[in-house]
Amino acid sequence: MNEVTLIIDGRPVTAAENATILQAARQVGIDIPTICYHDACTANAICRLCVVEVEKQRLLQPACVTQVREGMVIHTRSERVERSRRTILEMLDSAVDLSDAPEIQAQLAEYGADHNRFPAAERRAPALIDDNPMYVRDYAKCVLCWRCVQVCAEDAQYTFALSFDGRGFGTQIGTYFDLPMPETTCVFCGQCVGVCPTGALKPRREWLLEQGKTPDEIMELTRAERRKSRRAKQ
Ligand code: SF4
Ligand code: FES
Repeated sequence: MNEVTLIIDGRPVTAAENATILQAARQVGIDIPTICYHDACTANAICRLCVVEVEKQRLLQPACVTQVREGMVIHTRSERVERSRRTILEMLDSAVDLSDAPEIQAQLAEYGADHNRFPAAERRAPALIDDNPMYVRDYAKCVLCWRCVQVCAEDAQYTFALSFDGRGFGTQIGTYFDLPMPETTCVFCGQCVGVCPTGALKPRREWLLEQGKTPDEIMELTRAERRKSRRAKQ
């Protein structure tokens, strides 16, 4: 495989010619923050947190999808990059409940985000959805990273139970026709829960424990729900 040489933060780096800037940086231990990127998903550059400055390019480039080129000179922590990342984090913080997203919380601290930067911003506050025995969906915590939709579709499971509806600020992940999860094609594989970075998708047992239920109460609740569901099917 052909290789290219570039400079990242003043360090010469040799990378495969089809590598992304993110991969080239990671291979030499340079950390570039990400939210929507996940190794198991096709990168689609939604969140823009990974932007870097590439000399001779006017716009900041998303490192997760931009391919390396011979002679590139890249700055991953310039003032412009940090300002952009801080603004993205502050916008998320103003609209989304990030209390269950420790990685994003750490990024907020690292970039010195102002928690009151957008005091008039509307917060996303849809009600939590508890419609199946396996996991709950709390879209007030959703950053629309798209990972769950991707693993439910071509990136892993080919189930296509999840999609999105709405536009702009009203965009929301959900099921087709807003059906309850048991009425969709969902096979409860759990992959969406596994890739969610914010706790918007959470195992129901974990959620019940957080609500103060004891393991015995949860077992009893689960048995009662199974009995109810069997009766409904008869
Ligand atoms: S539910 Fe989780 S994985 Fe899905 S888009 Fe929202 S934050 Fe991302
Ligand atoms: S991680 Fe690159 S755009 Fe989200």
